[in-house]
Amino acid sequence: MKSFPEGFLWGAATSHFQVEGNPAEISSRSSDWAVWTACDGRIADRTTADRACEFFSRYPDDLELLSRLNLNAFRISLNWPALCPEASNPGGSLAVNMQQVEHYREMLTRLKSKGIKTFVTLFHFCLPKRLSDQGGWVNAATADEFGRLAQFLAKEYKGLVDYWITINEPLAYAYQGYVAGVWPPGLKHSYEQAFACVRNMLIGHAAAYRYIHEEDREASVSYTMHWRPFMARNKFNPADLVVQHMRNAVFNHLFPQAVQTGSLKFPFPCNLYPKVQELTGPIPGLQDSMDYLAINYYTRDVCQFNFQKGIDLFGETTVQSEVEVNAMGWESYPDGLYDLLTREIPPYHFDSKGQVRPIIITENGYAAVFPADMTEGDWSLEDDQRISYLQSHLLAIHRAITSGVNVTGYLHWALLDNFEWAEGLRIRFGLVRVAFPTQERTLRKSALVYADIARSNAIDSTNLLAPT
Ligand code: FCB
Repeated sequence: MKSFPEGFLWGAATSHFQVEGNPAEISSRSSDWAVWTACDGRIADRTTADRACEFFSRYPDDLELLSRLNLNAFRISLNWPALCPEASNPGGSLAVNMQQVEHYREMLTRLKSKGIKTFVTLFHFCLPKRLSDQGGWVNAATADEFGRLAQFLAKEYKGLVDYWITINEPLAYAYQGYVAGVWPPGLKHSYEQAFACVRNMLIGHAAAYRYIHEEDREASVSYTMHWRPFMARNKFNPADLVVQHMRNAVFNHLFPQAVQTGSLKFPFPCNLYPKVQELTGPIPGLQDSMDYLAINYYTRDVCQFNFQKGIDLFGETTVQSEVEVNAMGWESYPDGLYDLLTREIPPYHFDSKGQVRPIIITENGYAAVFPADMTEGDWSLEDDQRISYLQSHLLAIHRAITSGVNVTGYLHWALLDNFEWAEGLRIRFGLVRVAFPTQERTLRKSALVYADIARSNAIDSTNLLAPT
């Protein structure tokens, strides 16, 4: 048996747009994503999140699932578009829909009464439409409203939130929305705007961090990064190595380095562009604004030089066929998580006063694919690949803990099958299967395995589904 430290957090994660089907947001299309998904051809399987898992009304039952799985932590995100469908009052105070505030208060209170630690994300890819119409995160006004929203919510939910996550995966958001163009606002090759978006996110994050701490000195506040180890296809090819280095510097380190040092700095050659230079420099209140390290880890990226792929920093991802990939085309690569914890993130293990930061894996999971209209039957319940993914990644975390890394929790993505952004409903990450037409929930085999691990706070390494 490999035991985890006492008090280890075992949880699952969700995000509002992917699960809620929030009637207020959907009926008035008050978010960028609600508008985006209503346009033809944007989502691979032509589904929408209009109902998603109906978590908005079904959450009391869904929270019961957490107890059935012996989980002691849960991650949600708050629906900014539904909380603030209208612009602030001219005097500057936020216009907030109090019904939505009560909705989340009820949910958080229920979680606390079950003894579950709460993780609350304030921005999980989804903006009020009125803000996205004015440039979204490229406009400093968005960062300003974000800070004020954090201040308001920190006051309202004081004592109900154990871990705040200001922004989810800033670089993934900037890349998908401004470079690949597959998420709102759907811009392609717009590096300048992507970088301006990152700078404003840092400003919004710093403001939110400060305001939350003003309300609650004891609060634990951070943002979460999608970490992806980049590896040169050919370790002896200098061009592949340059691609690996550039992608790592931008995608993985740009944000945490700025938070660690308090100043945004772009790597060469991005820093040669005058427009990018304008974005460089210190951001008040940014330094050390992470009380813990929140890590989303799914896969690695094997990349090689391709001059024609300028937008991807002159590289492209290549999938090595000998390694298993999931329905997203993502390799299962648990060693990447171990390396990340022990080699890539040590620069952020300590704050500037030398205090060690706890590390929490805030997302990690395995995707399968089944059409959104499937209902009855035992399809997808025997999810052995998810189990072996889960076990091998937990063993990687255990190894890192044994080498002295301070990992204190693990949240699996996701509790439920949900709406996987540009891919739609058919991509299934859930421990719990959702038959979308009937909304029936069924525990998968992986859920039972995970429940056992959480109950015993240990993983039985003699009884694994796949050798690791
Ligand atoms: C992450 C997102 C999350 C989910 C998983 C699969 O990048 O934070 O919302 O879609 O990927």
